[in-house]
Amino acid sequence: MSNKKVIIKRFGGPEVLEVVEEEQLPEPLPGEVRVRVLAAGMAFTDIMIRKGQYPDVNEKPPITLGYDLVGEIDRVGPGVEGLEVGDRVAQLTVIGAQADYVCLDADRLVPVPGDLDPVQAVSLVLSYTTAYQMLTRKASVREGERILVHGAGGAVGTALVQLGKHFNLEVYGTASQSKHEMIERMGAHPIDYHSEDFVRVIQNLENPGADAVFDHLGGEHFKRSLNSLRRGGRLVAYGFYNATMGNGGSVIMDFARLFLWDVLPNGKSASFYSIGPWWKKHPDWFKRDLHELFELCTRGEIQPVIWKTIRLEEVPQAHRWIESAEPQGKIVVDITGRKQDEETSHD
Ligand SMILES: NC(=O)c1ccc[n+]([C@@H]2O[C@H](COP(=O)([O-])OP(=O)(O)OC[C@H]3O[C@@H](n4cnc5c(N)ncnc54)[C@H](OP(=O)(O)O)[C@@H]3O)[C@@H](O)[C@H]2O)c1
Repeated sequence: MSNKKVIIKRFGGPEVLEVVEEEQLPEPLPGEVRVRVLAAGMAFTDIMIRKGQYPDVNEKPPITLGYDLVGEIDRVGPGVEGLEVGDRVAQLTVIGAQADYVCLDADRLVPVPGDLDPVQAVSLVLSYTTAYQMLTRKASVREGERILVHGAGGAVGTALVQLGKHFNLEVYGTASQSKHEMIERMGAHPIDYHSEDFVRVIQNLENPGADAVFDHLGGEHFKRSLNSLRRGGRLVAYGFYNATMGNGGSVIMDFARLFLWDVLPNGKSASFYSIGPWWKKHPDWFKRDLHELFELCTRGEIQPVIWKTIRLEEVPQAHRWIESAEPQGKIVVDITGRKQDEETSHD
């Protein structure tokens, strides 16, 4: 048996990505289990890690990429209780998920219902948990409120839109024109940020302003998002997309401004959400929220938008798609190739 995985030996562009095959499988240490990965997620965060710009990853290359996974336990390490070979589990790995096998801390695994498709299940781990925690724990949205979602056609964006509709919110979303049809299909109002000023659109609505805005862009964009809020509104910042794409912005300045806007008596709040530190500090919240998302998906109340299911070998291409903002929703790596085999057999 061998272990195929996606690695980088140095930080850089998509050319640093390699698919390698190791002859030895990793062995679980005390307290760990070995997981045979069924599906792993792809996200914009992989781009940041590949470029060496992700603050929560201190490891130096060689690094195996992959922020989240769903798989089956294949070996139980010494001292692990309550888990068995064959159990289906999910984890936020941050790095390491894009591999056939990976050893993980047994304590932090989240059980996955057996009837949930692994490709669907993995798309809930990073992107939907981020969206769910921002909506419920950061912005504390209430039924009937109006939210503005930037990048509404992306992985986290589609999750915010879909969960926003699930919570009976009025949802507006900025996106390129190509994504508007999908956004409308989910029940939200698209705004083409290339040709429209979103602050003006939101402030010109009847009962002007939004109750919460979710902004992954950074820099001056945060200020414009703040300006689109009404009194009592909450700005939830959660990324520096523009800085990663070389479009300027200073992360330190952005944090300072968010802090300032939050303490100023302007009737609005501003904060930053980051799943990594939250997951470490509140593992119980992460487990509870992901469990709830699995339940919603099993009952068909949410259905993640999966743009493409790919094989490990296509990960370098997927980095290029994500960097050129092509995906509408999520890309998932079907590690076992099972899903694609099924699709081919139906052709
Ligand atoms: N803090 C956290 O815990 C956390 C967790 C997950 C992700 N993130 C961050 O969230 C962001 C999104 O991640 P993702 O995986 O969902 O990425 P993604 O799927 O690549 O989505 C990003 C979207 O942003 C849109 N976009 C680009 N410029 C825009 C602009 N000026 N205005 C509005 N939309 C714009 C892009 O499409 P169009 O331009 O074509 O509309 C694209 O759909 C990233 O910055 C990531 O680092 C943070």
